[in-house]
Amino acid sequence: MGKIIAVHSYKGGTGKTALSVNLAAIYARRGKKVCLMDLDFRAPSLHVLFKDYKAEYWLNDYLNGVCEIDKVLIDASRDHGNGGKLIVALANPSTEAIRDMTAKDRKWEMKALGRLLSLRSSILNDDDFDYLLFDTSPGLQYSSINAIVSADVALVVTSLDASDINGSQRMTSELYELFEKKTGILVNKVVADYLSSKEEQKKFNKYIKSIHTLPILATIPCYCEVLRAAGDSIFSEEKPDHPFTKNIDKLATTVEKF
Ligand SMILES: Nc1ncnc2c1ncn2[C@@H]1O[C@H](COP(=O)(O)OP(=O)(O)O)[C@@H](O)[C@H]1O
Ligand SMILES: [Mg+2]
Repeated sequence: MGKIIAVHSYKGGTGKTALSVNLAAIYARRGKKVCLMDLDFRAPSLHVLFKDYKAEYWLNDYLNGVCEIDKVLIDASRDHGNGGKLIVALANPSTEAIRDMTAKDRKWEMKALGRLLSLRSSILNDDDFDYLLFDTSPGLQYSSINAIVSADVALVVTSLDASDINGSQRMTSELYELFEKKTGILVNKVVADYLSSKEEQKKFNKYIKSIHTLPILATIPCYCEVLRAAGDSIFSEEKPDHPFTKNIDKLATTVEKF
């Protein structure tokens, strides 16, 4: 039985897309059958990485009840399978679609939740996927809550930025605990010398303590090379021996056992 993983955060730019894409690629490299979905309808990203592929329909259409999920799935294994399978589902990046998705009411969100929940039987059971990864929108909007509700595991990506920490803490008590989700924290973009000085180490420990109810699954440093790659390619495929890739590889194992 496969697993649904939702990658979420309080703030934007924490690394949700980078981490979910590279996790997906690493699972594929391990021979797994992986499906990666762009559920960030406010700021779609995956269409840029997978620009060589075109689907008949967008994930928006599936949630709108216009088509079934098989019309949305794109097999990117040709370039990104690495021995396994990598299937992607993209969010519509047009201004009109973004506006449309932002204006949805609660009733629509409830219906969309039903469609997200049914992916468990269509993708995991019928199509036999090992992993379904949701790259979500930051914050507490319904679409992200829906993704978390539908998932087996929620991964909360946070930087060490004070407002990000504060927001993640609040989400922990108000959201994840409420849903009793298996939730882990990924501390990303940690500055290289963060753990070297005593003062910084103290701050870091305090941070860990402050979110003590949730396990920290990974602490990933900030790498200039990752920033420089500018989200134009899948970093772990380009640089399989880079420490960032090794960090994600370790994370993949941790999440597998989580
Ligand atoms: N560990 C890291 N080191 C350096 N840059 C990173 C790291 N993780 C993510 N980034 C970069 O930060 C930027 C924002 O990441 P992204 O995945 O788009 O965030 P989000 O999806 O949460 O908005 C991207 O340019 C990405 O390459
Ligand atoms: Mg993103």
